[in-house]
Amino acid sequence: MPAIIDGKQTAARCLAETAADIAALRVAGVTPGLAVVLIGENPASLAYVRSKDKTCRELGMHSRKIELPADTPQDEVLRLIAELNADPAIHGILVQSPPPPHIDEAAIVRAIDPRKDVDGFHPLNVAALAMEDPSAMVPCTPLGCLELLRAHDIATAGARAVVVGRSLIVGKPMALLLLRKGTDATVTVAHSRTADLAAVCREADILVAALGRPNFLGAGHVREGAVVIDVGINRVDDPSAPRGYRLVGDVDFDAVAPKCRAITPVPGGVGPMTIAMLMGNTVRACRRITGKC
Ligand code: GUN
Repeated sequence: MPAIIDGKQTAARCLAETAADIAALRVAGVTPGLAVVLIGENPASLAYVRSKDKTCRELGMHSRKIELPADTPQDEVLRLIAELNADPAIHGILVQSPPPPHIDEAAIVRAIDPRKDVDGFHPLNVAALAMEDPSAMVPCTPLGCLELLRAHDIATAGARAVVVGRSLIVGKPMALLLLRKGTDATVTVAHSRTADLAAVCREADILVAALGRPNFLGAGHVREGAVVIDVGINRVDDPSAPRGYRLVGDVDFDAVAPKCRAITPVPGGVGPMTIAMLMGNTVRACRRITGKC
């Protein structure tokens, strides 16, 4: 049987370390503050935003959760970002993605002070990651995947990694993180138009699935003994479930797990790590902005 990579346990350890950092910052006279902005009422986004707010408070951070109506005009969001950029109590700003279609997400991201960009989506942070600049703010989900590999002693140096998905949130930064010096994987980025995707995936020692399609990767995509990191969190209808849906990953867990050396479950794998990394990024931003600790 494969090792199950327990994201909840690793996230709890990371959060405990971050809580200690926050306590030290508070003794030094600063409380790290995170603003999370949600535009519209996407149910999954609403759940994520509330969870981020709750975790902040549990760790002793200052949290501002701002929920805006779906028809909020772009310039109003930009005014809010300018206000948060100028607010000394806020060290991290996150605008939940995806926003409604009338919002120009790239313009919103560019308006965020790069030092407060705890998502690592600002062009300056994207460039800093590509340049292996240690001051880069790194996107939380791929950072969490890397931390899971480290925590479970999965060697990356010289390993063949295949990342399926090319988003700015996960696929591209994941590839850069796996590639950078110190991690040293040999990286292939595949996507929905990759020819013979299954054969490409079967080359992977480490397979990262981030394409957002439920149960898309099956046993034929996975080499015997591979490590599988499933980033997908998809809601599928299930009338027998208490909420009428259940969460599944991009990987067909039951079909794939018997072939793996190790695999992340959904839920309880990558998901908890994303929030834990967000808390850590907010503390880092707070330290850089205030010069404390
Ligand atoms: N939507 C899904 N994941 C993320 C994330 O990491 N950051 C933001 N801002 N939106 C998301």
